[in-house]
Amino acid sequence: MPRLSLNHFRKLKRQGEKFASLTAYDASFARVIEEAGIELVLVGDSLGMVIQGHESTLPVSIEEMIYHSQQVHRGSDKMLLMVDMPFMSYATPDTALHNAARLMREGYAQIVKLEGGTWLADTVKLLTERGIPVCAHLGLMPQSVHQLGGYVVQGRAADDAERLRQDALALQAAGASMLLLECIPGKLAAEITQLLTIPVIGIGAGADCDGQILVLYDMLGLTAKPPSFSKNFLLEQADIQAAIISYTQAVKNKTFPTPEQTFS
Ligand code: KIV
Ligand code: NA
Repeated sequence: MPRLSLNHFRKLKRQGEKFASLTAYDASFARVIEEAGIELVLVGDSLGMVIQGHESTLPVSIEEMIYHSQQVHRGSDKMLLMVDMPFMSYATPDTALHNAARLMREGYAQIVKLEGGTWLADTVKLLTERGIPVCAHLGLMPQSVHQLGGYVVQGRAADDAERLRQDALALQAAGASMLLLECIPGKLAAEITQLLTIPVIGIGAGADCDGQILVLYDMLGLTAKPPSFSKNFLLEQADIQAAIISYTQAVKNKTFPTPEQTFS
């Protein structure tokens, strides 16, 4: 059976149906989350923190992303496979093209994700014209943690919110196939989701995005300091499979995230 394609997520957006996604970094977890109904898996560069124990995502290399992507690919056969481009692997359009091609050829990525606003439009255009689908990542961009001054909510001031709207439109116009919004007020995320025709995935961005994503290890209670917008779904369940089914259902019926798990 072929993997889900972008068309599946475009259709869900048109129909107003929510979808649940998670990160995974290895074959065993990939299999469990796929069996629990997850439709999109992200091999996130959060692996630098939750797998490798670094303080940020900055040390992660393209080889490490390929290595983990291969594992997730072997452990699943249905989920759309999205892979993060790590820090500095898309610093220029040519570098981005070279590295994105590696993620697709060696890591079997169906879509690559990169962090940044309007400055990335040329890169997004170059990649998509050459057959590489792109998910743009806006809001809290962990690879810019030192510039942002910490892992803090973005888009609260009126001018920041307006810049986010313009960035989102510019990236869509450049050809982005999806957008991920991290840690922004729920109302702003809802507006951007409405404004765009491409599917929008949220993390710490309220319940009105088209899809939700969480870091797997946060929602299983494995991380020491989980973010306030996340939830430990294992607490009320007997095993990991049940926890992920419960997350998937909560996303589908819009009971996760709650207003308490959303920035205002
Ligand atoms: O690396 C990651 O886990 C991410 C999140 C948005 C889920 O980019
Ligand atoms: Na990431």
